[in-house]
Amino acid sequence: MPEGTAAGLARKPTAYAASRMLPTRTQLSQAYPIASSVDADGRLQLGGCDALALAREFGTPAYIVAEDDLRARAQTFVEAFRARTKDFDVLFASKAFPCTAVAKVLAGEGLGCDVASGGELALALRGGFDPARIYLHGNAKSLVELHEARAAGVGHVVIDNADEIERLEAVVGDEEPQRVLLRVTPDVRGETNDKISTGQADSKFGFSMADAPAAIARLRASAQLDLAGLHMHIGSQILELDPFRRAIEAIADLGDFSTYNLGGGLGVAYTAAHQPPRIGDYVAAKIETANRVLGPGKRLLEEPGRALVANSTVTLYTVQSVKHNVSRWVAVDGGMSDNLRPMLYGAVYEAQIADRFGGGTPSRLTGKHCESGDVIVRDVELADPRVGDIVVTPATGAYGYAMASNYNGVPRPPVIFVSGGDARVVVRRETYDDLGSRDVDG
Ligand SMILES: Cc1ncc(COP(=O)(O)O)c(C=O)c1O
Repeated sequence: MPEGTAAGLARKPTAYAASRMLPTRTQLSQAYPIASSVDADGRLQLGGCDALALAREFGTPAYIVAEDDLRARAQTFVEAFRARTKDFDVLFASKAFPCTAVAKVLAGEGLGCDVASGGELALALRGGFDPARIYLHGNAKSLVELHEARAAGVGHVVIDNADEIERLEAVVGDEEPQRVLLRVTPDVRGETNDKISTGQADSKFGFSMADAPAAIARLRASAQLDLAGLHMHIGSQILELDPFRRAIEAIADLGDFSTYNLGGGLGVAYTAAHQPPRIGDYVAAKIETANRVLGPGKRLLEEPGRALVANSTVTLYTVQSVKHNVSRWVAVDGGMSDNLRPMLYGAVYEAQIADRFGGGTPSRLTGKHCESGDVIVRDVELADPRVGDIVVTPATGAYGYAMASNYNGVPRPPVIFVSGGDARVVVRRETYDDLGSRDVDG
């Protein structure tokens, strides 16, 4: 797959790509996984599996993950770093898709991991990540979570605030010092939704540029904590490279460190209209800027979430009703319980009928939940939508499963991996029994 294609995957043969031919996205927008196409009968194929057959076998709604896509993007990140620097690590920001099977694939591709809670830490360990290459984040880490991190042998804790410094020192006590990074907010904003912007001075995350020097001095004087360097993450779904460059420039004055974690944030194509930078260009921009302003030979860490997993996955739904008043409301069997992003921050998606790609009928693709805001795609053209049709929304791999809920008592969907014509359930569908499984009496 040429690097010029929209998903930005490398042309250079990877270990994976050299051993197998990657299918292309015939007639599909860049939002779809690389291992997908529309066949001669106009039916969507995902990882060599027919989408309608997947819907029949596993039911809907269902998250369908093209395993090859996950692997290829992980390899592209690693190779982009390897080609430009010796000392680096690529960490999966597991909040984007906190699923054991996804963790196993990405750990298998040689990635480390970023976790933002004790629960994500447990999943990362279950997924096989090396504890020494796990970074514990969080702006409100509890004492219990810090003890869990120590017990697991987590390599680095990313310090977010002054209270945490005291708490972690108490946890370490007389034992081996804990390596830490200090999270700073460079006061640089990327062009993205306010709710996923974190680099501005008035952020709930990290130390401001004004407060960082005192925190650095405090950590350097600590007997329990060993400061390896700085961390920053300016936000998510950022489609331009300049904010990443400016953020690295901004932290250069904070001192000289061996390690810099430059966060994640690379945006992806949710629709054909989005043109994200290629992974290689994004990595090059970060490394070139770091070498220039932080000095050569630094250990550079990258924490991609969305850019690793978003486009690997599509969600399949079944149309339950089609109603025409002012608009045409095409209602499916999922919605905000499996993809909260459109409701939470106005995220836009594409949708198609899985065996009739095209358009023609202006529609609102709506969920089944008791909220007027439960609209998955506000303005979409579907090809004469009818009850029973299978609808697909691509690019649902990031923060979809992660933010899923049981609102309206809807069981959460299964996660199905597809590759080379095979499909396997890696997370089963929830049952009604699961809904009551935490009840203590009655
Ligand atoms: C600290 C940190 N690192 C990495 C990420 C991953 O960001 P993205 O999914 O945009 O790559 C996030 C996302 O919120 C984050 O908070």
